[in-house]
Amino acid sequence: MAHEFEIGYPRRFAALLRDYPGPEAYPPRDFRVEWGPIFHRGRLDGSARVLVLGQDPAAHETVARRILVGEAGQRVQGLLAKAGIERSYVMVNTFLYSVYGQGGGERHHADEAIAAYRHRWLDLLAGDKVEAILALGGLADGAYQQWRKTPKGAASTAVYVPVKHPTYPESASAAGQLSKAAATKKLLDNWNAALPVLRQAVTPDVETPLVPYADRFTPADLRVIPEADLPPGLPDWMRSLDAWASRQPVDEALGPKATRVDKVEAKRAGLAVRVPRKQRVWHTP
Ligand code: URA
Repeated sequence: MAHEFEIGYPRRFAALLRDYPGPEAYPPRDFRVEWGPIFHRGRLDGSARVLVLGQDPAAHETVARRILVGEAGQRVQGLLAKAGIERSYVMVNTFLYSVYGQGGGERHHADEAIAAYRHRWLDLLAGDKVEAILALGGLADGAYQQWRKTPKGAASTAVYVPVKHPTYPESASAAGQLSKAAATKKLLDNWNAALPVLRQAVTPDVETPLVPYADRFTPADLRVIPEADLPPGLPDWMRSLDAWASRQPVDEALGPKATRVDKVEAKRAGLAVRVPRKQRVWHTP
């Protein structure tokens, strides 16, 4: 069976991959630098017409080494599909590493070393072909506004489309602001308002009728991550709609005398991966 993949990073990204900011720029108390940087997802060959600016990677991204591959990514993939964009996109996050704890994102998104490196990616990616820049959430909006103040950012003619972050329903309901259902409706109203702007700005890969979101996500609104977006050889279930990674404490430090600090430490050190039940091929005769 033939598989879709992309051959490595083009040479023009070499300097960015050779020398990227680590703990000196991303304080480990606010970022999970221990899992390494996660740079991008999508086309690096200059064919992208939509540049997506996300926030920070989470558990699935940490394992797959590409951004926006968990449920947030599947929601965004669905949004792009509603604009007829199946392949011509590239995505980078505001941060190379997961934000750890509360408030780290707000505290650091404008830090000079973090922003300067992000601007180098944006300068390379937001080339002539990019027709729209889609920013997910407030931190990505801040990152875009900063980049607009740079010479390359100021010269960009791409239509700017800021939208609510795909995990807004989870974050707003966890903060007790409103119920998850109400927050989902708010997100989808916001995405419905953005869709005509995105569709107007972008030449689609495939002509698609505009199908707006209802009040909640339906299964058809989420899209699996295309195979060519992930490193070659990753199993199919790593891009399926089933969750397969989560933060789990390692148990090494968790004896009966474990303190709260030990428990926090053990949680940060662990990441669990499990093959989703439906994807366990060894059960198939
Ligand atoms: N995963 C990412 O890589 N970025 C986001 O913004 C959300 C989830």
